Amino acid sequence: MSDDKHFFLRKPWIYDKKAARPVRDDAAGGFETRSLHAGFNPMQDQNDFRSFVPPLVQSITFPYETFDKIPCPVYGRTRTPTNTVLEERIAALEGGEACLTAASGSQALFNLIFTIARPGDNIVTSLNVFGEGYKQAVTIFPERCSVQFRFVKDPADAASWDAQIDEKTKLVWVETPSNPCLFVTDIQAVADVAHAKGVPLMVDNTTATAALQRPMDLGADMVMLSISKFMAGNATILGGALVGPEPLVEDIRWNTTEFVGAIMQPMEAWMTLQYVETLSMRMQRHSANALAVARYLKAHPKVARVNYSGLEDHPQHALACRQMSGHGGLLSFVAPGGMQGAATVMNSFKLVVHAVTFGTSRSICMHPPTITHEHLTPDERRAAGIDDGLIRFSVGLENPEDIIADLEQALAKA
Ligand SMILES: Cc1ncc(COP(=O)(O)O)c(C=O)c1O
Repeated sequence: MSDDKHFFLRKPWIYDKKAARPVRDDAAGGFETRSLHAGFNPMQDQNDFRSFVPPLVQSITFPYETFDKIPCPVYGRTRTPTNTVLEERIAALEGGEACLTAASGSQALFNLIFTIARPGDNIVTSLNVFGEGYKQAVTIFPERCSVQFRFVKDPADAASWDAQIDEKTKLVWVETPSNPCLFVTDIQAVADVAHAKGVPLMVDNTTATAALQRPMDLGADMVMLSISKFMAGNATILGGALVGPEPLVEDIRWNTTEFVGAIMQPMEAWMTLQYVETLSMRMQRHSANALAVARYLKAHPKVARVNYSGLEDHPQHALACRQMSGHGGLLSFVAPGGMQGAATVMNSFKLVVHAVTFGTSRSICMHPPTITHEHLTPDERRAAGIDDGLIRFSVGLENPEDIIADLEQALAKA
């Protein structure tokens, strides 16, 4: 492989804990303002008109003005103008330098790990991660790429994270609050441990979103998001994003979109821009409704456990209050009677819908032990708090009294 034949090879991104994180121009202003304005100025000419709303550009190719003047963007496999507005906006919301959208949250995770890990390297995480992330960690990456994943034993203890990191560790990956058990990890503490060993920290901010939590302000180097959940908010978009240092984002773009096309489509990016405009308001309402539902479930004699960091007796309640401005719309609880009891409750719902995904405007529930976390061994499920009767419950934007009434009648049948 001679250098002149592969003149286009990029130097891989290498984490440098001393590298300054430049401040973005459009990262100023309140969250609500940024979610409406960042990345797009309606007063700037778009060809011969001005558009109040960021235009949806469906074209996948962009004409050359002259023979040797390469346009940017040049082809939709790498970037499109609509995706660029969304990427700028998400970066500004998370407080990161740059962002790359992906076809799903799972794809954003894959793109990151594929780019930064080589055979023989390892990634440190915990069992408190979403189902497809766990499946990537125990199947595709070890089997196809010889990249191993190490699961820390006690994610509440920074020393437990420290114990798993060695000279082959390329990334520490934390999901907080986690799906489905809403475990809250101390971002600052894990960032300190990772950085002391020269390893970057990525936080999956899907359940909280930047409206409630900004991991990069707490020391994280990257944020991963499933846009399919609260960011878009109504189960009409599959998408993901990775926010981080610009050289890393461009390295991922090079490896996984430029050559492969692992990118979100412009229509989805455009729709996401519309939904992000109301993210802050939605997350506040989701949080208020979820707290009301969590308190109701907590007081219910048939419910053995409720996982929601907004409850005062949640083991990481104080930590969650420190690192989040609200506790979000996702909770889980243990129905009476194990798996059969969970089935009875879920089959009895009249308003709440049983389906995969969460973060939707309508309340939705799902059974993690059989649907998303079925690949964990029984021991791993026990360690992760995924009981047979666990129901993941995404509290929607309905009137909370109606959600509670539906739970009341469903639990009465269990
Ligand atoms: C916390 C979390 N992150 C990422 C993902 C992946 O998102 P997607 O469904 O967009 O692939 C999920 C999916 O459930 C999730 O729960």
